[in-house]
Amino acid sequence: VAADKKWRIGFSQATTIEPWRAQFNKDIIAEAAKHPEVELIITDGEDKTEKQVADVENLIRQEVDALLVSPKESAGLTGAVQEAIDAKIPVFVLDRNVDTDKYVQFVGGDNKLIGEAAGQYAVELLGGKGKAKGNVVEIWGGMGTQPAHDRHDGFHEFTDKESGIKYLLDQQSGDWKQDQAYNIMATALRNNEHIDLVYGHNDPMAYGAYLAAKDAGREKEMKFIGIDGLPNEGVQLVNKGELTATFVYATPGAEGLRQAIKYLNGEKVEKTVVLPTMKITKENAPDILKANGL
Ligand code: FRU
Repeated sequence: VAADKKWRIGFSQATTIEPWRAQFNKDIIAEAAKHPEVELIITDGEDKTEKQVADVENLIRQEVDALLVSPKESAGLTGAVQEAIDAKIPVFVLDRNVDTDKYVQFVGGDNKLIGEAAGQYAVELLGGKGKAKGNVVEIWGGMGTQPAHDRHDGFHEFTDKESGIKYLLDQQSGDWKQDQAYNIMATALRNNEHIDLVYGHNDPMAYGAYLAAKDAGREKEMKFIGIDGLPNEGVQLVNKGELTATFVYATPGAEGLRQAIKYLNGEKVEKTVVLPTMKITKENAPDILKANGL
C-alpha cells in the first residue's frame, strides 16, 4: 500500500460487457481520482456468480477497509456479502440488492418507480387511461435480480388496469442482453401478426427488439421503451427515433464511493440512498446530448 493511501476500498463489479456497467466503472474511477487518500481495487465478475463470489472473497482476504458490491444476482452473492460483514468489513451494496440487510448501505435507483413511470407512459402511448389498447411484449432482465422484478411490478401497476392491453409473452428473460432480446423478439414477431409496444427492462434489450423488428420490416408498427438512458446509448437511440422513450437509471459509481468514504471518515450515512430518474423522449433528448457534449 502506498504511504499516502489512507483507505483501501474494494469494488466487486458484476460484469463489464454491458454499456451501463462500463459507464458505472468510469464513474467510480473518476470519483476515486478526486480522493488521493483512496486506493480503489476493482474486480470484474465476468457475468458469472462463481467468479464474483471468488472476487469478493479475495477482497475480504486483502482486508479492504470497505467493500462495494454490485451483484450479478441477489441470492448467489448473499453468502459472500455475509462473509464480508462477518469479517467486520463495512459493505455497500450498489444497484442490485442481496438477500440480507446487514450491510451498511444500499445505493441505487428506484426500480419500482421507474417501472411505474414506464407503465404510465405505455398506457399513454396506447391510447390513454381507461382507453389503452394493444399487444405488449415485455422482455425481462435477469430473473435472479431485484431490478427486473421491480421494473415488472411497477409497469404492471399501470398497464394491468387496462382491459384493452394484451401481453404476448409469459416471463421471457433476455438476461439484460441485446442478442438474447433479439432472439425473443424474432420469435414474438413470427408468432404475432401485430405488436403495439415493446417494454425492455433495459436499453440494450429494447434495442435488440428494435433490431429484430427492423430485420422483419416491422419496426414502424410499434413503440419501444427501455431503461438506463445513458447519453451515449439510450438517449441517442431515442434521439434517432429507434426507441420511443427511455428512463434514466443513474449509475451508483460516484455516489457509492462518496458514501463509503464518508462512512470511513466517521460520518453517519443513510441506510438507503435513492438515485433520481427522468423520462427521456424525442423532446428532451437533444438537450441531454448537448449537455453531454454529444
Ligand atoms: C447492466 C444492467 C443495466 C440495468 C442494470 C440492472 O448490467 O443490466 O442495463 O439497468 O444492470 O441491474
